[in-house]
Amino acid sequence: MIVPKSEAEIELMREPCRIVRDCLAFVGERIRAGMTTKEVDGLVYDFIKASGAEPSCLGYYGYPASACVSVNEVVVHGIPSERVLAEGDIVSVDLCAYKNGFHGDGARTFRIGKVSPEKDKLVRVTEECFFEGVKDLKAGSPLYDIGYRVQKYAEANGFSVIRSYTGHGIGREMHEDPSVPNFGRKGTGVRLAAGTVICVEPMIAAGGWRVKVLDDGWTAVTLDGRPAAHYENTLVVHEDGVEILTL
Ligand code: MF3
Ligand code: CO
Repeated sequence: MIVPKSEAEIELMREPCRIVRDCLAFVGERIRAGMTTKEVDGLVYDFIKASGAEPSCLGYYGYPASACVSVNEVVVHGIPSERVLAEGDIVSVDLCAYKNGFHGDGARTFRIGKVSPEKDKLVRVTEECFFEGVKDLKAGSPLYDIGYRVQKYAEANGFSVIRSYTGHGIGREMHEDPSVPNFGRKGTGVRLAAGTVICVEPMIAAGGWRVKVLDDGWTAVTLDGRPAAHYENTLVVHEDGVEILTL
């Protein structure tokens, strides 16, 4: 069941979402070759705690870290480890902060030094997919128009859309209804009501869309080993458009 938020609830969500935004920027200024993905997670943990919030991911269904740090062919849910980042890697950092009784959620894919033209385009197009997906979104828009637009834009650029992970509603829980796929048919799905808060998060692959989960139970990699990128924001649907809370 999709339950739109009141203006008072949305006001409470602004702070955890700002912390997510600022934490992603903080990580973006520091992430570099030679750092381990665990060190990236440490930056996230320290930043969120110093902001008076809690890292929602830590302990979520047993997840062992504050951020998902997903390198190259890892699509999402990369568990921070001793893996050392190298020039040419693309790294998605996905994190959630909990404060005021609400969660905020966002992800960025960072380039480590100079990356291949294919990876560079993939990161750019994945970001653009988000903005395509939410363009013209407002109260009354059909939910699956988001995925329709994301898919159309990704495929027009020669990339594919991951099917087995989706965006989601968010609020007092990190994952609420509705599920927000990155593919779909134009004009279908529920009409979004004003006050609905969702995370739109294109996960785009340079090769095929098939993924598998590694034996750790979390790490999702592309089946063909080609790179993938991820970009996510939490947003509110208003009568006249969207308000992106993590930007
Ligand atoms: N932040 C992720 C999302 O976009 C969820 C991470 S799963 C977790 O939904 F287990 F790491 F928390
Ligand atoms: Co999310």
